[in-house]
Amino acid sequence: MSNKSYVMWNNKGGVGKSTITFHVASVYAEENPDRDVIIIDMCPQANVSMMLMGGGRQAEEKLQNLITKDTPQTIVGYITDSITRSDTSDLGKYITKMSSFNKNLSDNIHLLSGDGNLELIAPLLSERADATPLSTTDQPWIEIHSIIKKLTHKQINDKPCTYFIDTNPSFSVYTQIAILSGEYLLVPINADDSSIFAITGLFNLIWGTEKTHPVYGNYTFSAKVNQFGIERPKIALLLGNRFTQQKGAAHAFKALSNEATKKMYDEYQKNPTRFIKSNLNVTKQSEFENAFSMELRDFNSAGVVAANQGMPLSKMDRHTYYVYGEKIQVSKEQRKLCKEVIINLVSKL
Ligand SMILES: Nc1ncnc2c1ncn2[C@@H]1O[C@H](COP(=O)(O)OP(=O)(O)O)[C@@H](O)[C@H]1O
Ligand SMILES: [Mg+2]
Repeated sequence: MSNKSYVMWNNKGGVGKSTITFHVASVYAEENPDRDVIIIDMCPQANVSMMLMGGGRQAEEKLQNLITKDTPQTIVGYITDSITRSDTSDLGKYITKMSSFNKNLSDNIHLLSGDGNLELIAPLLSERADATPLSTTDQPWIEIHSIIKKLTHKQINDKPCTYFIDTNPSFSVYTQIAILSGEYLLVPINADDSSIFAITGLFNLIWGTEKTHPVYGNYTFSAKVNQFGIERPKIALLLGNRFTQQKGAAHAFKALSNEATKKMYDEYQKNPTRFIKSNLNVTKQSEFENAFSMELRDFNSAGVVAANQGMPLSKMDRHTYYVYGEKIQVSKEQRKLCKEVIINLVSKL
């Protein structure tokens, strides 16, 4: 068995990247005890890190402890040491085992924590990437853009690892690094035009526009990736997040879901190699939808409890929870449905 890596990205905020990363990674880890699961949080907001650390105020404190170490035990510590060519071979210096932080998580979950300072090192990363090569073998752009990719080839124990990489919506240099680190791309969308519109942006940013712009065209991310022959992740799934909601909304949501799938399917017909299973015999949009998309329900109060307490849906076995002193009810039926949808998603990975 070899390592695997999944990156979650949409060029739009609030679509569920961090939430889905948390739920998928925690259930994936439960179902794959023969693997180590490592979440790499490449969003400076560190939302998925906070959920993994058990959520709420106490998670903020724990996160702060990791960030303020001499060598931050975070993504910033790892990237900075990689740039300065310090010895990064002891991954325990950067990656944290989560079961000691959050008893709801299984033993094989680990985190390379998010860090607000990721935003602060972005100018350094850009400058290093665009530095003039010093020799024919010096490749600064490739070096910077493969720091995390190289990490995903490593193991922390003697087990194969599965990496889940959470991202920031903006296409900043650290998002570019994150995207190039994943073998597979998962694209969450919501049932709204703006997140569906962002799919077009996603293709233009990662693969480039159909026509190269005469002025800035040679400076873009996709131009560099082509120039250096770097591999991009393959699109694995379009995740329609919160598509299954209250009755009555279903019809309206179906129209939006259809529009999103159509966009992706058009792209698949033009460039099937951008997707996994590019040789699948898909000739209709409905077949494409079956193979490449999935609807996730709105978790409602179960989602609120899960995020606040860092609780995987699989571990939610009570009817009543307290969030900041407020009593929250989560019905058995709702817990069951939410759990099933995540298990179903994990089974597709
Ligand atoms: N399936 C879901 N059901 C209920 N709430 C959700 C769901 N997915 C995301 N949310 C909520 O939507 C908000 C945005 O989600 P988040 O994961 O932070 O998005 P992103 O990481 O893409 O910015 C959060 O408040 C989160 O709790
Ligand atoms: Mg997020």
